[in-house]
Amino acid sequence: MNALDPAGTYRIGTRTVRRLGYGAMQLAGPGVFGPPKDRASAVAVLRAAVENGVDHIDTSDFYGPHVTNQIIREALFPYRDDLLIVTKVGARRGADGAWLPALSAAELTQAVHDNLRHLGLDVLEVVNLRSMLGVHGPQEGSLEAPLTALAELQRQGLIHHIGLSNVTARQVQEARRLCAIACVQNHFNLVHRADDALVDSLAREGTAYVPFFPLGGFTPLQSGSLSAVANELGASPLQVALAWLLQRSPNLVLIPGTSSVEHLRQNLAAAELKLPKEAVERLEALAQPAEAH
Ligand SMILES: NC(=O)c1ccc[n+]([C@@H]2O[C@H](COP(=O)([O-])OP(=O)(O)OC[C@H]3O[C@@H](n4cnc5c(N)ncnc54)[C@H](OP(=O)(O)O)[C@@H]3O)[C@@H](O)[C@H]2O)c1
Repeated sequence: MNALDPAGTYRIGTRTVRRLGYGAMQLAGPGVFGPPKDRASAVAVLRAAVENGVDHIDTSDFYGPHVTNQIIREALFPYRDDLLIVTKVGARRGADGAWLPALSAAELTQAVHDNLRHLGLDVLEVVNLRSMLGVHGPQEGSLEAPLTALAELQRQGLIHHIGLSNVTARQVQEARRLCAIACVQNHFNLVHRADDALVDSLAREGTAYVPFFPLGGFTPLQSGSLSAVANELGASPLQVALAWLLQRSPNLVLIPGTSSVEHLRQNLAAAELKLPKEAVERLEALAQPAEAH
């Protein structure tokens, strides 16, 4: 019995993972650029995650760039057989840390090889194509060319499964005509609910939806009613935010990010938090009106 068991499991590609995992983006330096202030604590966070039952880590070679993957390798290589490392490609970093598109076949091929080398792997289990048609949110447009390039790398045996990130429902449908889609990773949390319908449609098909910014991102969620619910349940507001996601739909697979072992433990403890129906109803009021995409 593991403390994460109450949250259950879900399938991504051909792997079944616990629904509470870990997002490694916070392990790079400020602005997800350059090395962290304290590399030893970054290593400690990753080791604590796996020791506490995390079997799913989200990363990318554009975090740092390269830094996060190198720290994952330093902390966890050789990897446990049951550890799923999901990475993403489609962006690169400018000299000033800017997030730039890198969606050409040559850039995607380079990114896959960089991920393999820095993680120390022969094959990437799941690679998300991160759409950069819109940097800060999904934007319609064809992803056929980059997906075709990734499918070719899959055919070469460098990738097992392909997922999508920062995409619209229409792009998910279009992508499925080109290749199987193992998961969708988009911005979604208690407040940011633009993808409510997409979450439900993917759940009906049995596809994992991995919300990024599950805690609100760089400025974690704060609200009076969230704090009130948390106080009543003897939990923290961010634990309630994670528990809400776990209860929202069985296909939500969480990757909260943190650079702190203490925060990691708090986040993982959300697996054991059950929100009463009345609390869920009050939390529903926090949803911001969805922007169309
Ligand atoms: N596909 C994409 O475009 C995309 C975009 C963004 C993120 N992601 C992925 O999604 C993962 C999760 O997103 P995220 O890490 O950006 O945001 P997040 O999980 O919503 O929140 C992370 C922030 O919350 C803080 N935090 C975490 N646990 C806390 C706790 N218990 N108490 C107080 N503060 C806490 C962290 O600071 P501390 O370090 O101080 O704990 C950090 O500032 C990332 O790690 C990354 O793998 C993907």
